[in-house]
Amino acid sequence: MLKGWHRWTLRKEIAAQALQHTLLIFGCDGLAPIGQPRLRSHTDLKRFHHPPTFCTVVELSTTRLRLRPFLATDVTPAYLAFLQDPIVTRFSNQRFRKHTIASCEAYQQSFKANDNSFLLIEHRQDSAAIGTMTIYRTPQHGTADIGLMLGNRHYWQKGLGLEAWLAVLEHLLQEQGIRKVTGGTARPNIGMVRIMEESGMTLEAVRQRHELIEGVAVDLLYYARFSTQLA
Ligand SMILES: CC(C)(COP(=O)(O)OP(=O)(O)OC[C@H]1O[C@@H](n2cnc3c(N)ncnc32)[C@H](O)[C@@H]1OP(=O)(O)O)[C@@H](O)C(=O)NCCC(=O)NCCS
Repeated sequence: MLKGWHRWTLRKEIAAQALQHTLLIFGCDGLAPIGQPRLRSHTDLKRFHHPPTFCTVVELSTTRLRLRPFLATDVTPAYLAFLQDPIVTRFSNQRFRKHTIASCEAYQQSFKANDNSFLLIEHRQDSAAIGTMTIYRTPQHGTADIGLMLGNRHYWQKGLGLEAWLAVLEHLLQEQGIRKVTGGTARPNIGMVRIMEESGMTLEAVRQRHELIEGVAVDLLYYARFSTQLA
């Protein structure tokens, strides 16, 4: 049982690490920023004590983008329009769903109290919300599967998809101690395939003719990158 001084030392250590990485730490029980991590119980202490700390969502900045947790207030008609654009969802199974403000709010809520993250991608110069990323972690195996959607097509083919993907990929591998990051897409989604290849991921599996896109059976490609060659 950790008491008094030990507990305080651990808090200081975690806060120092957060500062060192210039990360904002968000509680997994809600997406409100909490600054210094709050430790509520011995279970929480153990959770923080076992690196990596999966139960955090970060804010990341790149040259042109800011990625931060997707909040309930980010569910806007403009965001809904991303999911209702058949060109945006052409290669995604989102195209089979009927999205509403309520379903988007439910999806955002579903990221509370688990190991996964839902991030908003903002264009820094334009202050525009241009897309989202998801991180589905499996802490037991040290893996994470990531997804990307730039919902505003005005921002396509400018290298922004690659920029967002690399930021999350590198962060998970280098800062969060994830051992292996995976991603996948349908073969005809050339932009997404290029992003995974250009970010140093390698093709590790193909599900042959697995999905029907516009009536044509297409392969699903699964890519991965390890934190080190031997991980
Ligand atoms: C797929 C997606 C993320 C690509 O984002 P993007 O910002 O346009 O991609 P980038 O500009 O970073 O391009 C990366 C590479 O892919 C190429 N590329 C991007 N879109 C392409 C397209 N439609 N056709 C051919 N090449 C394309 C770029 O030319 C670039 O290649 P290069 O570096 O050799 O020049 C974006 O189109 C998107 O969000 N689509 C809808 C959602 C989706 O399909 N997500 C993936 C679901 S699995």
